[in-house]
Amino acid sequence: MIGFFDSGVGGLTIIEEVHRRLPSYGTVYLGDSARMPYGEKRHDELVQFLWEGAQWLFARGCSLIIVACNSASASALREVQQTKLSSFPGRRILGVIRPTVEELSHQGYKRILVLSTTATKKSEAYVHEFAKINPSIQVISHACPNWGPMVEEGKAVSIEMKIEVNRELSLVDDPSAIDAVLLACTHYPYVREDVEAFFLYKIPVFNQGNLVASSLEDYLLRHPEMERTLTKDGAREYFTTGDVANADFLASKRFGYDVRFQNTFV
Ligand code: DGL
Repeated sequence: MIGFFDSGVGGLTIIEEVHRRLPSYGTVYLGDSARMPYGEKRHDELVQFLWEGAQWLFARGCSLIIVACNSASASALREVQQTKLSSFPGRRILGVIRPTVEELSHQGYKRILVLSTTATKKSEAYVHEFAKINPSIQVISHACPNWGPMVEEGKAVSIEMKIEVNRELSLVDDPSAIDAVLLACTHYPYVREDVEAFFLYKIPVFNQGNLVASSLEDYLLRHPEMERTLTKDGAREYFTTGDVANADFLASKRFGYDVRFQNTFV
C-alpha cells in the first residue's frame, strides 16, 4: 500500500489526484488533525510527528509513504530520511516539494508567489529548490497561518474565509508583478476559488495534487522494485487522530461521495 501523511484533511487534495491517476493502488491516508496546525510547530516537533506517522503507516503495511504535508516535508523530511529510516530497510518516504518544483520550473513563469504555512516559509525549502532547478525564477514566499486551521474547521467557502484570504493576500508586495501562484500547503486548494478571485482570474493558481501524482507515477516506473511491493486492489483506508465526523464530512464534501474515516492514535 502507499501511505499518505498529512497534518489533517489537507492531504486529501493530494490523494484525490493520485486516486484519479493511479486508481488500482491500495492507499492508506493518515491525517494528524489532533496535532495540527503543523505550520506553527518547531522543527524537532515536526521530526517527531512525521516519524511517528511514518512508523504507524509502515505498521499498517505501507512500503512507500508520501508526506503530503508541506510543513513536514520542508522542515522534517530530510532529517527523518537521514537519521531514522535506516531501521526500515526497503521502505521509502517521499516529500512533495521537489516534485512540485520540478514540474513547475520549466513552464516559463518568472515570479511565483508561494503561499504556505509559517514552517514552510521559514525553512526556505521552495526558495532553495527553485534556485537549484531554475535560478531565473523569483520566489515570493508568503505565509498564511490562519488558512489551514480555518479549512480544518470547515470554514472554506464562507464569507469569513473570503475576507481572511483577501486580507492576507493584500499584504503581498506588488501582486501585479506575480505571474503564477503556488498553493504550497495541502489545505489551500480548499480556498483556491478565493485566491483566483483575488487575482481576478488573470494568473494561474497551482494545486500540488496533479503535480505530485504525475511525479509519483514516474517514480513507480523508475523503481520497479518498489512498485512490486505495492498492493493493487484499489483498497482505500482513511484514518484521523482527530474528530472522525469532521473528517468524514470534509472528505465526503471534497470527493463528492461518502468517505468513512477511522480514529487512531500515532
Ligand atoms: N497541511 C499542512 C501543509 O501542507 C498545513 C496545515 C497545518 O498547519 O497543519 O503544510
